[in-house]
Amino acid sequence: MADYDYDVLVIGAGPGGYVAAIRAAQLGLKTACAEGRETLGGTCLNVGCIPSKALLHASEYFEAAKGGAMAAMGIKVTPELDLPTMQGQRKDAVKGLTGGIEFLFKKNKIDWLKGYAQFKDAHSVEVAGKTVTAKNIVIATGSSVTPLPGVEIDNAGGVVVDSTGALELASVPKKMVVIGGGVIGLELGSVWRRLGAEVTVVEYLDQLLPGMDGEVRREAGKIFKKQGMVLKLGTKVTGVTVEGKTAKVTVEPAKGGDAEVIEADVVLVSIGRRPNTEGLGLDKIGLELNQRAQIETDHDFATKVDGVWAIGDVIPGPMLAHKAEDEGIAVAENIAGLTGIVNHDVIPGVVYTQPEFAGVGLTEEAAKERGAIKVGKFPMLANSRAKTNHEPDGFVKVIADAETDRVLGVWCIASVAGTMIGQAAQAMEFGATSEDIAYTCHAHPTHSEAIKEAAMAVLGKPIHI
Ligand code: FAD
Ligand code: NAI
Repeated sequence: MADYDYDVLVIGAGPGGYVAAIRAAQLGLKTACAEGRETLGGTCLNVGCIPSKALLHASEYFEAAKGGAMAAMGIKVTPELDLPTMQGQRKDAVKGLTGGIEFLFKKNKIDWLKGYAQFKDAHSVEVAGKTVTAKNIVIATGSSVTPLPGVEIDNAGGVVVDSTGALELASVPKKMVVIGGGVIGLELGSVWRRLGAEVTVVEYLDQLLPGMDGEVRREAGKIFKKQGMVLKLGTKVTGVTVEGKTAKVTVEPAKGGDAEVIEADVVLVSIGRRPNTEGLGLDKIGLELNQRAQIETDHDFATKVDGVWAIGDVIPGPMLAHKAEDEGIAVAENIAGLTGIVNHDVIPGVVYTQPEFAGVGLTEEAAKERGAIKVGKFPMLANSRAKTNHEPDGFVKVIADAETDRVLGVWCIASVAGTMIGQAAQAMEFGATSEDIAYTCHAHPTHSEAIKEAAMAVLGKPIHI
């Protein structure tokens, strides 16, 4: 390398960026990664996947103890919530994992450029007042919360908060209103409901969890309602006012109608996320955004500007950590002259509530639009392990092409659906038919047997129903 400081400079150290940097270094490329946050790991490790799962896991134990699920198995306890300790273990999880990335950077001799990077031209950026050049620059700047017009988020105030504020509440709200019945709203709404809050979810659409299979979405509505959440579907928020420590949320039917005011001591705004492209100086390299303010790339993650690549939440596709990670590996391999590919048709998605909601591939609705299909379903109630564990909710659904039997999509609602969906993704990646899954020996007794039985149902012959 003659003229550049680095072969590869990655902007952003989230799951996309830090993985790209590590793979590039592993492939022998001189690599740097610019990150403005005080710790590495991006949204996911600092304020996203990891801290939310730390609270979901702990609050699940609390509810199992308080709600009688443990007593039903002969374990009688009267739990007392120690929120500072629960929050402490969340912080420890984040500290351990973000520190782990710092260790991996050192191990792989990746230079962490501390600060926010801005393009000067296609091969140079300014970070903390210093100009750094690279033959290849990977934009992995991630995403931030989409604001709701007219609603001011104030995480420090603790009344109207986004996901970051909702992770850090110092006390359990009595009443919480969640604006947006998507993944964040249901995960973090579940945390605080389990710990004692009365939670109302206001969702603009007629069902929760847009993007998931229609039957899964309808079932999600029933399950969260049964768990005690108040769901206001087909409802829009027209304003939020804060007086002292109380918020007044004005809502009305999305199709028009009478307004209603809901009082809450915490309002969580979770109506989606948008790509981080502002302040990057993209105008200086002539890189334009699409209508959704995302950076478009080709199949190799190259942008229209030579030497500039992009991955993760900042490009189109689901905003998921594992998608960003896989793109990080692929982009580094492409830069190194290898063939890095991500199959965007097989990206699993999981909502880590209890039960978990997971899916991969096409929804039944999308598969029907594509052509003739066969569908097999199996209820978790008929799965021996789920039944024994007192986990009756949910089902597995396998969708296959009517002619070729190739699996097009798998949807699971189960206590461990997030783990189960991995085998479905692998089967689809290998081009499996439902018959392939049905005739694969699954360990007994496991929740995964429900996937086998749903595949058998596609063929018309499940055993246990
Ligand atoms: P990010 O993780 O957003 O990282 C981008 C990084 O770039 C940031 O650290 C930012 O500081 C830095 N940056 C931005 N601009 C610059 C600049 N100019 N210079 C230097 N650095 C810059 N996904 C899942 O798959 N599973 C989950 O369970 C899950 N849970 C989530 C829970 C919550 C509450 C949230 C908010 C998100 C969750 N996600 C989850 C989504 C996941 O966090 C994102 O999809 C993932 O982090 C995207 O990775 P990324 O590398 O593209 O960007
Ligand atoms: P989301 O897109 O999942 O859900 C937002 C919801 O808000 C939608 O249901 C939408 O219809 C609704 N909405 C939009 N505007 C509204 C309004 N004005 N009033 C009422 N409802 C409104 O977005 P969310 O939950 O904010 O999450 C952002 C991203 O983070 C997601 O794309 C997801 O991929 C990622 N994430 C992933 C997790 C996981 O994988 N387990 C966990 C948390 C976040």
